Amino acid sequence: MESGTGTRAERGTPNVAGAGERTGPAPLLQVENLKTHFFTRWGVVKAVDGVSFSLREGETLGLVGESGSGKSVTCLSILRLVPKPAGRIVGGQILFEGRDLLSLGEREMRKYRGRQISMILQDPLTTLNPVFTIGAQVREPLRIHRLVERDSVKQRVLELLRLVRIPAAESRLENYPHQFSGGMRQRVVGAAAIACQPKLLIADEPTTSLDVTIQAQYLRLLKEIQRRSKLALLFVTHDLGIVAKICDRVAVMYAGRIVEEAAVRELFSAPAHPYSQGLLHSLPKLHQRIARLPSIEGTPPLLSNLPPGCPFAPRCPKVMSICREQYPPKTPLTTSHQVVCWAYAKESHATSLAPS
Ligand SMILES: Nc1ncnc2c1ncn2[C@@H]1O[C@H](COP(=O)(O)OP(=O)(O)OP(=O)(O)O)[C@@H](O)[C@H]1O
Ligand code: SF4
Ligand SMILES: [Mg+2]
Repeated sequence: MESGTGTRAERGTPNVAGAGERTGPAPLLQVENLKTHFFTRWGVVKAVDGVSFSLREGETLGLVGESGSGKSVTCLSILRLVPKPAGRIVGGQILFEGRDLLSLGEREMRKYRGRQISMILQDPLTTLNPVFTIGAQVREPLRIHRLVERDSVKQRVLELLRLVRIPAAESRLENYPHQFSGGMRQRVVGAAAIACQPKLLIADEPTTSLDVTIQAQYLRLLKEIQRRSKLALLFVTHDLGIVAKICDRVAVMYAGRIVEEAAVRELFSAPAHPYSQGLLHSLPKLHQRIARLPSIEGTPPLLSNLPPGCPFAPRCPKVMSICREQYPPKTPLTTSHQVVCWAYAKESHATSLAPS
């Protein structure tokens, strides 16, 4: 067992899955009550504190939320790449094709990274190594996982570069990252990420450093690749326009937890959580594009010092007294829409909290 993952007992048993409650084939990825904390000298930062969601083959789930809400730490946890020694997964399960990744040894986990599960980060400059050629960097995952015969590797690299529309790919194999534009670099990162035909691609704000036109091209390309390979996509973004365009479902994170999850159309047409309502306030129509998350009055809470009850309470226009006392339960609104807010809690919760 890897030191950063905690024991099975510490991680606890799974709770009821979020969208996994829907019927149909088993999800490819099922994250259950995931808790990833950072043990710092200023206290325990509960970056991810009880996150559950699921993702099926070919599906795109958008993960949105303010800066510091735990989106990247959630992604890194899936690949078990949480920065050590401060960061530790202290609870939950990450089931990939039914297998708990948190129970794997590090050697076995390496077989998943870049092979079955791949990740694209925000800044291609930090992903691509400036001292290696483009060809070498797309070749690397193929070399590690030995999926292609040695004499076919070059062919596969060219195929991948052409797939992500790198012009004159053959003549550019020996180029270095600085000889490529930002958009091309990001496409190269994409080529390396899909080199081993992963089943799950985690994209953590992959288009933030691109200008709008290049961004649109990149997203089209990603969707095309997804369609061809039935890739499941976990897409982290600040851009609600992108969510509307490419996601099937969306999970809204606040202070280390998912506070609302819904099919994209449902969230955009009827956001339930006051935080989501604030985010979507200025986005009345699905086709309208908002570049960044609109800001909501007040600041997010310190994750090392969360108030009791609902962490959104200090900023919430609908706050009630119970909100400051107990964390709200999750309430299903439809089969594909759930919210974590006292305003929607069922009678049973309300009565159990009523003074006796
Ligand atoms: N190495 C670390 N040590 C201590 N705390 C960390 C570390 N990495 C992240 N955190 C904390 O975990 C919390 C969640 O961070 P995370 O990077 O997941 O946010 P995010 O939602 O991805 O934000 P952004 O939109 O800015 O990328 C933050 O409060 C952050 O300060
Ligand atoms: S639980 Fe209360 S404070 Fe939290 S979002 Fe709902 S109404 Fe607002
Ligand atoms: Mg992030």
